[in-house]
Amino acid sequence: MIRTEFFTGPAIAPHITRLSALRVAVFREWPYLYDGSMTSEQGFMEGFAKSTTSGIAIAFDGDEAVGASTCLAMTEEDDHVTQPFRDAGLDLSRFCYFGESVLLRQYRGQGIGVRFFQWREAHARSLPGVDSTTFCAVQRPSDHPLRPRDAIPLDNFWRKRGYLPTDLTCTMTWKQVDSAAKVQNILRFWMHRL
Ligand SMILES: CC(C)(COP(=O)(O)OP(=O)(O)OC[C@H]1O[C@@H](n2cnc3c(N)ncnc32)[C@H](O)[C@@H]1OP(=O)(O)O)[C@@H](O)C(=O)NCCC(=O)NCCS
Repeated sequence: MIRTEFFTGPAIAPHITRLSALRVAVFREWPYLYDGSMTSEQGFMEGFAKSTTSGIAIAFDGDEAVGASTCLAMTEEDDHVTQPFRDAGLDLSRFCYFGESVLLRQYRGQGIGVRFFQWREAHARSLPGVDSTTFCAVQRPSDHPLRPRDAIPLDNFWRKRGYLPTDLTCTMTWKQVDSAAKVQNILRFWMHRL
C-alpha cells in the first residue's frame, strides 16, 4: 500500500537528498532527458527547505520515498521562473508555483499523481492571497529522435486536473543525456484558478 504525506518548512529538510535522487532517476527519461547526478543536484534545494511557503508531497512504499512533488509561493521563486509573469503584468502574489513531480515508473497509474495535485492545491489555498496555481513543462518536438514511440504527453492528465496551457514560457538550462554541455530548454506554463 502506497501512502502519501505532505511536509512543510523544516520538516522538508530530511527528504531533500531522496528528492534529488528521484529527480536524477526520473528526469533522465523522456521528455526531460536530464543528465544529472547527486553532485550536480547539490545545493539545488537548499533555499527551498528554508522557505516558509514551500511544501512537498511524498509517496512512500513502506519507509522508502518512491515519488515526490513540490510547491512554493511564486513570490519566492527564482527570476527565470517569475520574469515571464512580471513581463505579462501578472501579480506574483496570487500564484503558487508547482515544481517537479517525480514518481518511479512502477508506481504510476495508481492515482498518486492526482494526490500530488490535491496536496499541493490544499497548500496553495493556505497561502494568504494565493488564488491560482501554475507549473511549467518542457517543450519537445514530436519528431525528437529520443522520443519513445509509446510516449503519451501528460497534457490530458493536466487538463483533467483543471489546468490549461498559457502563452507564457520560460527558459531553463541543463545538461542532457544527448548533449555534451548544458542546453537551453523552453518550458510552457500551465495555470489553474483555485
Ligand atoms: C506525472 C506523474 C507523477 C503522474 O503520476 P501517476 O501517479 O502515474 O498519475 P495518476 O495515476 O494519478 O494518473 C491519474 C490519471 O491520469 C492518467 N494519466 C497518468 N499518466 C498519464 C499520461 N502520461 N497521459 C495521459 N494520462 C495519464 C491516468 O490514466 C489517470 O486517469 P484517470 O483519472 O482517468 O484514471 C508521473 O507520470 C511521472 O512521474 N512522470 C515523469 C515525470 C514528469 O514528467 N513529471 C511532470 C513534470 S515535472
